[in-house]
Amino acid sequence: MIQAHGGTLINKFDANYDLTNVTKEIELDAFSLSDLELIGIGAFSPLTGFLGKEDYESVVQNMRLANGTVWSIPVTLPVTEEKAAELVTGEKVKLTFNNETFGVIVVSDIFTPNKQVEAEKVYRANDDAHPGVSKMFERPSVYVGGEITLTKRVKHERFESYYLDPVETRAKFAELGWKRIVGFQTRNPVHRAHEYIQKSALEIVDGLFLNPLVGETKSDDIPADVRMESYEVLLEKYYPKDRVFLAVFPAAMRYAGPREAIFHAIVRQNYGCTHFIVGRDHAGVGDYYGTYDAQLIFSEFEEGELAIEPLFFEHSFFCKACGNMASTKTCPHTKEDHVVLSGTKVRQMLSEGVVPPPEFSRKEVVEVLIRGMQKVHA
Ligand code: ADX
Repeated sequence: MIQAHGGTLINKFDANYDLTNVTKEIELDAFSLSDLELIGIGAFSPLTGFLGKEDYESVVQNMRLANGTVWSIPVTLPVTEEKAAELVTGEKVKLTFNNETFGVIVVSDIFTPNKQVEAEKVYRANDDAHPGVSKMFERPSVYVGGEITLTKRVKHERFESYYLDPVETRAKFAELGWKRIVGFQTRNPVHRAHEYIQKSALEIVDGLFLNPLVGETKSDDIPADVRMESYEVLLEKYYPKDRVFLAVFPAAMRYAGPREAIFHAIVRQNYGCTHFIVGRDHAGVGDYYGTYDAQLIFSEFEEGELAIEPLFFEHSFFCKACGNMASTKTCPHTKEDHVVLSGTKVRQMLSEGVVPPPEFSRKEVVEVLIRGMQKVHA
């Protein structure tokens, strides 16, 4: 089994943690709660807490933690200036959400980040129209760093059986006898192009780990429960049961394109994947990133810095002349023969009850999406 990133799968969960003398509190938002959970269960190994100043600056500038380990996305705990003024380094502070305590942080750093620099370096963007950038600016202005303990597991009522910790997915892959496992990140329903690249990857490995992100996404992305239903109907009918494993990734979407592709790959390594799919404009939004920037960024690392192997795919589509799915790498025909629809266009069609063509999406998936989108717009 592949090692966790940094060598050790972190476990920072302790249900018996003694909270008696911990009086101060930081109220988390949903974003930080999901980060706390993901650090606690080892999905963000080697992180053991929210980034302190030195690690934060190193991640922003060099895509590495201060000790040199690759890490591309700052995982931070933003608090207001008023809250920051109450805190003292070295002390323990409860991490709460809706008045329930989910963890503790031992405060090591309290610092004011330069968010302009974070926007430019991490998101390669500096305007509010970028959903990741606007979210970052919207959140409070002081960051608190320090080791955490997850003291209580978050109860997930929706699709509970699809929440697995990295230790559990690793055990599952071992039980299935899979040695080479390809991870697939998505925040969208699985369309034919996704299916094509997943199955192309599956031809050369033992199993596919379909790992849709179900944490916070921007409001016009298709809701997670609708997407989950679409994966279920698709897997039921078109995928070999013993070669695909579906579990959710409870992280918030950052829309940081290339930087997020590295992060997505590292996290899937922690879940036990040996390979990771990076297709067209991975984790991108609008026109902020070049189509293959999220692939090119992998060449910025030295041999051995990343253990997980990225599998790169060209923009794929259905070609009417070929009569099958293809990409510019495999198809000699022109655009006129290619069925290419943007996500925005498809969402618009679905909300109007218009059925996208079968070359774009399987009919079983479309039925789920139309029902789901009509509910959203009702
Ligand atoms: S993402 O924001 O989670 O990356 P999405 O769910 O659209 O978005 O994509 C999931 C994965 O499929 C990403 O690796 C993306 O690059 C890839 N992908 C999406 N559409 C295509 C396509 N038409 N051709 C090739 N790769 C694609």
